[in-house]
Amino acid sequence: MRSIKSYNVRCVHQTHYPAFTAVRPNRNFARSHSLRNAAPASVLESDRSVRAPPSKSEIITGEASNNITDYIYEKIGVNLHHQPNHPIGIIKQAIYDYFEASSPGTFSKLDDLYPVVTTTANFDEMLVPPDHVSRSPNDTYYVSSDKVLRCHTSAHQAETLRKGLNAFLVTGDVYRRDSIDATHYPVFHQMEGVRVFSETEWSASGLDATEFAARDLKATLEGLAKHLFGNVECRWLDTYFPFTEPSYELEIFFNGKWLEVLGCGVMQQTILDKNYKPGHRAWAFGLGLERLAMVLFDVPDIRLFWSGDERFLSQFKAGDLKARFKPYSKFPPCYKDMAFWTSPEFSENNLCELVRGIGGDLVEEVVLIDSFTSPKNNKTSNCYRITYRSMNRSLTDEEINALQDKVRADTAEKLKVQLR
Ligand code: PHE
Repeated sequence: MRSIKSYNVRCVHQTHYPAFTAVRPNRNFARSHSLRNAAPASVLESDRSVRAPPSKSEIITGEASNNITDYIYEKIGVNLHHQPNHPIGIIKQAIYDYFEASSPGTFSKLDDLYPVVTTTANFDEMLVPPDHVSRSPNDTYYVSSDKVLRCHTSAHQAETLRKGLNAFLVTGDVYRRDSIDATHYPVFHQMEGVRVFSETEWSASGLDATEFAARDLKATLEGLAKHLFGNVECRWLDTYFPFTEPSYELEIFFNGKWLEVLGCGVMQQTILDKNYKPGHRAWAFGLGLERLAMVLFDVPDIRLFWSGDERFLSQFKAGDLKARFKPYSKFPPCYKDMAFWTSPEFSENNLCELVRGIGGDLVEEVVLIDSFTSPKNNKTSNCYRITYRSMNRSLTDEEINALQDKVRADTAEKLKVQLR
């Protein structure tokens, strides 16, 4: 989705946030539900027996709208956030520890919700407009026309409010079709946080409800940033999400740079009124665990989280936020350029999906290095550079040539473009 221009100005750690914001081409509530009493938090915590991972035929359904590849299917149920010694599990636990210390017993923790959700939950209940780009099959993985692999943990906000919970953290794997580089992977992990306030809470403060929620939100998240990163400077930027108003992004100054760490805001009142009960106000945030882990632990490539390599995993231990990744080796890259006349249907995400399907995690980056439109026939030529590099071994010319030949043949055939 990124143009050459936006690629150049993009900050290295700009991982996975912009999907719902105004800067990026974009990404639900239908029924109101009766209200019920809050279930005790303990019932909902850590019940991992709820549902087995889906079978392949449940995910790759053969329906016309299905756009899920084997490569993606294999990621479902891996749940890196369930591994206590994995950087993703360590960050999750560190955030839990912060909320437990600052508001003991308040937040219910849910980390095993099923990743296949309805388009209603993923989009409609979160007030994502019908024409929002995030609904496009170019951006989201559709199981069928009314079911997707959740593209954000916000997909669980409404249902969790309907369970009657007034403060919760939802962690899970989320799926997005995107371009390929060191900070983008089609599966990553998010944590959603929601806190609901009753009128007695804000009226005592003398502030109006929105101001009260916004202040509590900012203080809570600044505290979280400091818990994770030490005494860092924080700044707030206004942004847009369909499900919050006002909406903000938090940036921290870390290692000499401003880094965006999360998106948040005061929950749209309709979401709360329809799913919880009227007369309340709430805040919500969503953060990307890979992004935080990459910054905190100095992890240079997002594929490392999935590598399963002991040389990577052995460097991290539950509870240790001080670990810094020491590269064990850097194997040489292999670059392959491919130029073609594009077609109106061509999309970069489709190309990336195709290349990933063939090269798997050997693909480090796919980047548009040249594009021009011929004045003679008005056709546009794109040249993409594919970088292949293994995280744990040297590659041979033969294996990369074989992969690249297949990429070229499939690009011409499936993406209907003319190779040059
Ligand atoms: N769901 C948003 C995203 O994935 C993040 C977010 C969550 C923003 C909750 C505001 C409130 O980009």
